[in-house]
Amino acid sequence: QLMKVFVTRRIPQEGMKVLSQSGIFDVQLWDSNEPVPRVELLRGVAGAHGLICLLSDKIDNEVLDAAGTSLKVISTFSVGFDHLAIDEIKQRGIRVGYTPEVLTDATAELTVALLLATARRLPEAVEEVKNGGWSTWKPLWLCGYGLSGSTVGVVGLGRIGLSIAKRLKPFGVTRFLYTGRQPRPENAAEIQGEYVPLDKLAEESDFVVVSCALTPETQGMCNKDFFAKMKKTAVFVNSSRGAVVNQDDLYNALTSGQIAAAGLDVTVPEPLPTSHPLLTLKNCVVLPHIGSATYATRGTMSVLVANNLLAGLKGESMPSELKL
Ligand code: GLV
Ligand code: GLV
Repeated sequence: QLMKVFVTRRIPQEGMKVLSQSGIFDVQLWDSNEPVPRVELLRGVAGAHGLICLLSDKIDNEVLDAAGTSLKVISTFSVGFDHLAIDEIKQRGIRVGYTPEVLTDATAELTVALLLATARRLPEAVEEVKNGGWSTWKPLWLCGYGLSGSTVGVVGLGRIGLSIAKRLKPFGVTRFLYTGRQPRPENAAEIQGEYVPLDKLAEESDFVVVSCALTPETQGMCNKDFFAKMKKTAVFVNSSRGAVVNQDDLYNALTSGQIAAAGLDVTVPEPLPTSHPLLTLKNCVVLPHIGSATYATRGTMSVLVANNLLAGLKGESMPSELKL
């Protein structure tokens, strides 16, 4: 008797191959690059033993009820798990797999690219070249901010935060500050990072990089008070989850000159409507949540997602199991 697995989106072939070659699954795929409609998700999970989902699928009580008692493993194609109702999942004895580590390098790299693009105004500069705004070389035109001699504040010095900091260090960053629930001396040692309160990080950083998980404690943490404490010349970058930032407060900080610029790889909602006020600002660079988007990383993630599911449904230890 094959075990039913529901996959909520087209994922790289490498991962699908692991599922099919196992020979123990009846794989039902939402064979599209677009999100599965809610009714199809509820239908798809019914009687499923395993579920492979994405960060854009909200896995709540309604989905768990629709799945019924057959569901034993949820394997998410992400390192973040704020889209999963963890307490309910734990209560039902369902195991969860996720994809830390394999996407750390790609996400850190993208965050550095976004930081540089924002600080040095790359999208604006490219636009000027295309629209005829480039009349001559001008000493005062398109100036931004550099990393050399700067202080960088990392909100959440986990794997990704540390990886970002290590990449920024060779640019000449002289000081790293970080915040989080508790000090992380083993991570901080690699960058001589100083553990400071959030307001001190805001006050003293030239670049603020957000790389923490979205939790009830971090939701809306970068708000009016936070931006008011930042330097007028500071650049804010977020590649974690949009909801860590109060976007209305960010908009006001960007338009009032309270901060210099912001680079966001994550927003609320996703996708951000094309009419959103943030998209009218030259000093705001918005990317469509592409932190882990290299061919190699997405392929590796798909294999890990499949192996997590396979191990979980065999009752074995999973390569990356979320401790619930
Ligand atoms: C991406 O945001 C992820 O959580 O993997
Ligand atoms: C969290 O996203 C981490 O991997 O540090």
